Amino acid sequence: MSAATFLDARGMTGGYGAADILHDLTMTVAQGEIAVIVGPNGAGKSTAMKAVFGMLPLRAGSVTLDGQDITRLSPQERVARGMGFVPQVRNIFPSMTVQENLEMGAFLRRDDIHATMEQVYDLFPILRDKRHQSAGELSGGQRQQVAVGRALMTKPRLLMLDEPTAGVSPIVMDELFDRIIEVARTGISILMVEQNARQALEIADTGYVLVQGANRYTDTGAALLADPEVRKSFLGG
Ligand SMILES: Nc1ncnc2c1ncn2[C@@H]1O[C@H](COP(=O)(O)OP(=O)(O)OP(=O)(O)O)[C@@H](O)[C@H]1O
Ligand SMILES: [Mg+2]
Repeated sequence: MSAATFLDARGMTGGYGAADILHDLTMTVAQGEIAVIVGPNGAGKSTAMKAVFGMLPLRAGSVTLDGQDITRLSPQERVARGMGFVPQVRNIFPSMTVQENLEMGAFLRRDDIHATMEQVYDLFPILRDKRHQSAGELSGGQRQQVAVGRALMTKPRLLMLDEPTAGVSPIVMDELFDRIIEVARTGISILMVEQNARQALEIADTGYVLVQGANRYTDTGAALLADPEVRKSFLGG
């Protein structure tokens, strides 16, 4: 790996109750790189994201961010350390305006958030036009932009996205992926779950294929796309 490892989630084992969902799961993301998690429905992709963000009690394993062990920290403490998380569902406040959503994203900050908000509006210009509209009135793709923008308001160094392109058209998906690449180029690491596996692996430095809460395949995005077994079982041939 060329860049330094920024997130190192290692040997994660745990679940919601008695039965474990994650089994010795390991995922790393280098600085400024894009890591993509794919796998069938129910494989534990969202659970893995929750574990990295501190929303799931781990029976074993560790999470290290920028060389510091954060395994025991709360989600809020992880945000303060540089994690931003866009969950799969309920990732915006629909009755609040676009701008209020962005302000909510910055709730932990005590400094001036104006410049960051301008950066979000530069990344997603449509949000600047619609900043006084309720987020719930926006299209699906625009709502996802609000969700990503909200996470960017804390100035994260690791941005975690759970299915950012769910329910949007192929064109909107391509646009969102372009913006995500743009964010990564600024040095922010990306850890992203994607249902659009083939397209997501095309922009992935590293890809993780999860099955039943465990690592099945780990390689560069390009290598996974070229692997006949991966193609046959997980990419529709
Ligand atoms: N809050 C919860 N409490 C108990 N079990 C849960 C909870 N959330 C998820 N599970 C279970 O954990 C397993 C993994 O679910 P998870 O949502 O992580 O899968 P996923 O890979 O994200 O699926 P999808 O592609 O549908 O989003 C499933 O068996 C699911 O039923
Ligand atoms: Mg999920």
